[in-house]
Formats: sequence, C-alpha cells, structure tokens
Amino acid sequence: MAIIQLPQDLKFGVATAAYQIEGAANEDGRGQSIWDTFSKTPGKVDNGDNGDIACDSYHRYEEDVQLIKELGTDMYRFSVSWPRIFPNGTGEVNQKGLDYYHKLVDALIQNDIEPMCTLYHWDLPQALQDKGGWANRDTIEAFVQYAELMFQEFGGKIKKWITINEPWCVSFLSNYIGEHAPGHTDLQLAVDVSHHLLVAHGKAVKAFRRLGIENGEIGIAPNSTWKEPFSTEQEDKDACQREIGFIIDWFFEPLFKGQYPDYLVEWYKQKGATVHIAEGDMKLIQEPIDFVGINYYDGSVARYKKNSGLFDCEMIDMGYNRTDIGWPIYPEGFYKMLTYVHNKYGDTPIYITENGACYNDDVHNNEVNDIGRINYLKTHIAALQRAMDSGVPVKGYICWSLLDNFEWAKGYTMRFGLVHINYRTLERTPKDSYYWYQKIIQNKWYEL
Ligand code: BGC
Repeated sequence: MAIIQLPQDLKFGVATAAYQIEGAANEDGRGQSIWDTFSKTPGKVDNGDNGDIACDSYHRYEEDVQLIKELGTDMYRFSVSWPRIFPNGTGEVNQKGLDYYHKLVDALIQNDIEPMCTLYHWDLPQALQDKGGWANRDTIEAFVQYAELMFQEFGGKIKKWITINEPWCVSFLSNYIGEHAPGHTDLQLAVDVSHHLLVAHGKAVKAFRRLGIENGEIGIAPNSTWKEPFSTEQEDKDACQREIGFIIDWFFEPLFKGQYPDYLVEWYKQKGATVHIAEGDMKLIQEPIDFVGINYYDGSVARYKKNSGLFDCEMIDMGYNRTDIGWPIYPEGFYKMLTYVHNKYGDTPIYITENGACYNDDVHNNEVNDIGRINYLKTHIAALQRAMDSGVPVKGYICWSLLDNFEWAKGYTMRFGLVHINYRTLERTPKDSYYWYQKIIQNKWYEL
C-alpha cells in the first residue's frame, strides 16, 4: 500500500460545460448552437438526446453551487454559452445571457469558489456555422469580439480564463471523423479549423493583455493521450509518436514554439491537406500564456497498423480494465504524457483541466456506489503526484465532472458526474466518489 500525499497548495476543482448542463435552450434570448442542430439531426446522438433541458443548471445553479461548496473545491471550471451572449454569433448582445453568468459567478465568489471560465466549449453559434463556422477566418474575429466582451464584463470577477477547450475535438473529431458537431468528414476542413482555432486563441490572449485584467491568467485546454509502443520496431514507435503528435504536438508546438511539427505537415500533405498560414499567424499563436490546461482520460499500448489511412496506430488490448464508455484505464499514460509535455514544452504552469471516468452506476437507497470512479481517481491522482515529484509544474487538478450530463454524441447514456442526475426528476444525488473526493481535498492524503 502506498501513501499518496499531495502538496498543500495544489488546487482542486470540478468542471462542467454549458451545453452539457444548462438546458434552458430556448429561454431568455439564447440563440441556437451547432449542438442544437446536430443533436436534432436523426442518428447523430444516441437515443436522439439533446441539451434542451440537460441538468437544468440554468435554473438550478444555486443548488449546484451549494454542491460545489459542500464538496470543498477551490475552483469551478464552467463554460459560457456563446449563443446566450451573442445569439447571432456577432452583433447584438443578449443582456439576459450576461445576467445569468453574473448571477452564477457572484454565487461562486460568495461561496469562496474561484471561477475558471472557458470561453469555447464547443457550442458555436449556428449563425456562424451557416457562414462556414471555424473554417471561415471571419469566425476568428467573431470569437475575439465575444472574448473581449467577456473580459470587459467579467474581468473584475473572473481571474482564470480558458480560450478553447480541446481544439483537437473541435477540428479533427468534428470535421474529419464527423462524430461531433458540425459532423463533417473533410480533412482539409479539419486542418483549416485547427489552425483558425489557434489563431483565435492567440488573438484573444492578445486582447486579454491589452485590456490588462488585473491578476488575470489565461490559457487553453488541449486534449492529451499517451501511446506506449508495443515493440521496439521503428514502425510501432513512429505510429505511436504520430498519434501523440496528432493530439498533443499539433497544438503544443505552435503554441510554444511557433511552428507545426514538420513530419505532421508532411503527413497531412500526403493525405491531401495543407495548412494555410497567413502572415503573422504563427506569432499570434505563440502569444505567451499564463498556464496550459491539459485534459487526460485515457491512453494505451499501441502499434502500427498497415494500410489504415490517416490514423495508423492501433491500440492493443492488454487486458486493462475499461470504464463504462469503453476507454482503457491507463494511469501510467497520465504520468508519461505529463513528463513528455514538460520535457518538450518547458515550465509553463499546468492545470489538469479535466480528468475523470464514466461509470453508469445508479441510485440505490439514496446512494450511488461508484467504486470504479473512486479507483480511477485514486490511480490517476497518484500518477499526477509522481509527475509533480519529478518536477512537472502542476498547479491544480480539476475533475470532470461535477454532474452527470449530456455526453455529446452519447447523449445521456454515459455518466461522468460525481453527482448523479435523475433525468426525469432532475434530482441530484452525490455519489460515493463525491464523498471520497471531498476527503481528499480536505486531507491531501490517501492510501492506494
Ligand atoms: C470534454 C467533455 C466531455 C469529456 C468526456 C472531454 O473531451 O471536454 O466535454 O464530456 O471529455 O468525454
């Protein structure tokens, strides 16, 4: 048995995202987002679920803030619904949207919970998608306009900002694999989107600096993964590196070194896609940030798979347990990914902006025994501690998610919450993992 002792100054948090929890999709002037459209397109989301009601957090935010307060986290990471603020993407501002976030943020602050605000967690206004979405460079300007408004409006209250959540999902998963909104399957589109997201991020950071938010910190939250080569064969090592490259380096290298990885530029070119870089873009992308958010869920041992197209890295079933969504549990990958990022990209402080597990345990006698989630968190926080011990500058750990919620293409079938949601009554029931996490936050100590 190992004792895990965490630094006293490590910050803890919980996270959610607007479309996944708010509901109130047609209230108080909110415009439509690409997720409204996508989820209402037959066949795109399991069960035909959508975010019209979700956890109804728009109306129940006070109860949710109390749940966070009880849990005892230092921070709450939430996202703003862009179409609640700009129903048409640009132009007229919806005051009622701003009012809602003021109420939420005030409630957090009154309860000593630090707000961490994500500007873009995937719900692009549909009006912008109608003009090409992120593939159209005008969306960069629209995003900066939205970001500036938010900085001006909330800069006095919100000190931690994240521009974009998981740019890999926004670009490749949504525009090449087609699994998320807007559901395209075009590699060139995905590459264009990935570049525009990074430019939008850089421009927003620049605006943030120009506005001089006192004590403000800003970063971005890319995806991550880890692929451990199954053998010492060069092709296995290359395939694993490429996979890590697609997810991590394609975004980190421009952010921290002002360039895209050559071998990936070449790889995409071979598959027919080119990165279109306008003058000044790379400098903008490299605009210094205060922290980098990293989301980690899974990784695996993997090898090269012949004749398999763009993604040629095949996971090997090593018999690791999987969470209920089917993702292999691989805490070692968390440790390796963090040391890789640190070695390659330097000492920028890191927040783990998401880590968590899907277990679909239900309520029995007012309790939810989600031991699988507790074990997942135990092993991952232990891996995090090892990474910190070896010098990775981690400032905070934010668990995904406070609530069970709308799990994108999986609808309500997959549950990641520390708090169970009954989607019929919207009743909230803290799970065993909630009480476990509460203890860890208090004690910074547990046994593995
Ligand atoms: C996203 C969340 C999502 C979670 C679990 C991340 O990719 O940022 O919105 O619910 O993973 O799939």
